[in-house]
Amino acid sequence: MDLGQPVLFVSFVVVTGATAGIGKAYAHELAKRGLNVVLISRSLEKLKQVAAEIEEQHGRSTRVIQMDFTEGSESYEPIRDALQGLEIGILVNNVGMNVPLPLRFLDLPNIDKYIPDFVNCNILSTLKMTQIILPQMVARKKGIVINISSILARRPMPLQQIYAASKTFLDLFARGLDREYRSKGIIVQSVLPAVVDTNMTPKYAKCGKIPADVFAHKALNTVGLTNRTSGTLMHSIQWLLARTLLPQWLQFSSVGITLVFFFHKIVMRQD
Ligand SMILES: NC(=O)c1ccc[n+]([C@@H]2O[C@H](COP(=O)([O-])OP(=O)(O)OC[C@H]3O[C@@H](n4cnc5c(N)ncnc54)[C@H](OP(=O)(O)O)[C@@H]3O)[C@@H](O)[C@H]2O)c1
Repeated sequence: MDLGQPVLFVSFVVVTGATAGIGKAYAHELAKRGLNVVLISRSLEKLKQVAAEIEEQHGRSTRVIQMDFTEGSESYEPIRDALQGLEIGILVNNVGMNVPLPLRFLDLPNIDKYIPDFVNCNILSTLKMTQIILPQMVARKKGIVINISSILARRPMPLQQIYAASKTFLDLFARGLDREYRSKGIIVQSVLPAVVDTNMTPKYAKCGKIPADVFAHKALNTVGLTNRTSGTLMHSIQWLLARTLLPQWLQFSSVGITLVFFFHKIVMRQD
């Protein structure tokens, strides 16, 4: 689908976690396709830098909103205010944090703070941003919501249990929402990438890494064709390989969990 053509006729895309990695790549790619961009992240300095890059390279308008998504639902009023009056055609729910590998649940660092921070960043952000933006899409009978989930949403993941669970939430939320609002002209897509080359990816994960700009370009080409995608053919193949080479019975056995634990410990030491 050509996201910059009159089929959308709306001017702004909102991207959460937009100053690096996949979010930044989606922001650039959508600006390249003719859309103006609202960038949301924690660092004002990085936001201004990415906004300047987009304006210079693609000639589109930008807005920036500084927000730490680990904060709770009371922190969204400034975002609602900043978006007031903007016609928003696409929302990319991209922001997310990962867990330091490999950890059993009770070993998560500073767990009392970690749990609410994690839930706010990985789950609440998508619910609140969708709550704020979806009504204007429904009113116009047009709009696209993209949730960046993960390959790790496809199975329970011992040692990355809350990350995988949060990504499954995003996946199921997107798919349910798509069914609810498709007849109202809204497309909701769940994207489940494997390894994209970003700050979040561990350095040892070298195999099959895709540059973020290539990923965003290919994944955006699937919007309108499918409501659930790995993003690229390479990432579909990676999922096929992962589930063949590490079958669920092995992954869930205590031997499998111990193997994965020591694999990460050894390779992380080599980084
Ligand atoms: N990389 C992969 O291989 C991969 C695979 C599957 C899924 N994903 C998912 O893709 C999404 C993006 O990941 P990425 O790899 O692109 O990450 P990244 O390179 O680390 O970028 C994260 C972005 O989010 C912002 N951010 C982080 N924490 C934030 C917070 N608390 N509040 C506001 N902004 C915050 C960062 O900017 P500031 O630091 O300026 O705030 C940055 O713009 C995540 O949801 C991740 O789970 C990634």
